[in-house]
Order: sequence, then C-alpha cells, then structure tokens
Amino acid sequence: MKLVKLLANLGYGSRKQVALMFREGRVTDAAGEVLYADDVVGHADVRLDGEPLDPPQGMLLLLHKPVGYTCSTKDPGRVVYDLLPPRFRLRNPLLSTVGRLDRDTSGLLLMTDDGALLHRITSPKSHLPKVYEATLAQDLRGDEAGVFASGTLMLESEKTPLAPAGLDVLEPRRANVTLVEGRYHQIRRMFAAVGNHVQSLHRHRLGGLDLAGLAPGEWRLLGDAERERLFQTP
Ligand code: URA
Repeated sequence: MKLVKLLANLGYGSRKQVALMFREGRVTDAAGEVLYADDVVGHADVRLDGEPLDPPQGMLLLLHKPVGYTCSTKDPGRVVYDLLPPRFRLRNPLLSTVGRLDRDTSGLLLMTDDGALLHRITSPKSHLPKVYEATLAQDLRGDEAGVFASGTLMLESEKTPLAPAGLDVLEPRRANVTLVEGRYHQIRRMFAAVGNHVQSLHRHRLGGLDLAGLAPGEWRLLGDAERERLFQTP
C-alpha cells in the first residue's frame, strides 16, 4: 500500500492533509531519510515526526470505560472515543467497540478494527463469560441464583428465554453476575424481573481478561499473549 493511503487509513488526516505532511518532510524512515507519498515501505519502518506509527490494522485495545461515556461514534454526550487519541476515531477500517456497555456501566471494554476477531468474541457460540459486579437498591431475596441459572427467565419484549447466568452473592446488596450472552440492558432487566434495581454496574472480566490495574479512562493495546488469554476462560 502506498504510504499516503497507509497514513490516511490510520487516521492521521485526509489524503490531502497527509500529502502535505509528506511535502513538509515529516514522514521518514527509521534512519531519518525522507519518504514520499507514493513510496511503499513496511509499516514498522515509517516514522511521522520521528515517532513510530500507530498499530496497523488488527489492533485490539482494552479500555476501562468510566460511567457517563457512550459506546457510540456519534452521541451528543461523551463517547468512549473521547478517551483515545482523536485519530483513532478516523481509522479505516473502523475501530469499534466489542459489544457495548451502557452509559451508566463502567469497566472492561475491548475495541478492535478486526472484524473477524470482533465476531469471534461476540458470537453466542464463543460462550465467553462476562463478569459484572452489580450493586443493588434492595437486599437479595435468596432465590435469584436459581432464577438466573434456570435458562427459562423471559425478559419483557424478548422472544427467547435467557441462557443460564451465574450469580455469586458478595453482600446482601452486591453480587457478581456471569453472562454468556449480551442482550440490551440485560443485567438491569434481570434484576428488575426479580423485583430489584441495579444502582451501579461494573464489568471486571471478559473471558480470561481483567482490568489489571487500569484506572477509569485508561486504555492500553493488547498483544498476542493477552489475545490468547482472552479465549482461555478460567
Ligand atoms: N447489562 C446491563 O444491564 N448493562 C450493561 O452495560 C451490560 C450488561
């Protein structure tokens, strides 16, 4: 791929803007030799203003989503892309969230531009467990674990029952819930179905990954070892 297209696809600017960067001599190889828009050079050998480029297509990142951010590219409020370098929003192929967390849910969110990987993670066949900590408005009654595990719980306006889900009670009003599917507002609706109300919700595990010390709003790229760990469920 010609360099001008490579940089434009990585979100560094429109083709026109990127072409100007070349004319200004801002794009070089690792030894500082100026590169030209039509050159075809390996991604790892290119520098912009002396800095290596963002990762090529196939990137996977882990974000600690704070409460108050929407998993959307367009929303009048704050969106998860606001927490990343602005050019990440302009990448082609698009960097998308792997599934969604509600605006009021915090925790582990993956983002990728790799469609096959996204499908592999979100496909119902993958059965990747997602673990959420829910804080509730009322004490648990005691029968919720049985109801969630039954595989027969029907949520309003759904046509099929929920797959069995796990519940581990931590305190009378705090519990871990493990899901292997992801329906709209699922956990909030599950607790509403058993007469409770979720006050706060935090996802702390997806497959074999956890947040590993990332503070709210922080993110990092995942390498091969962590990709593998994602699919190794505990
Ligand atoms: N369940 C919910 O209700 N909200 C989320 O964000 C995720 C699971």
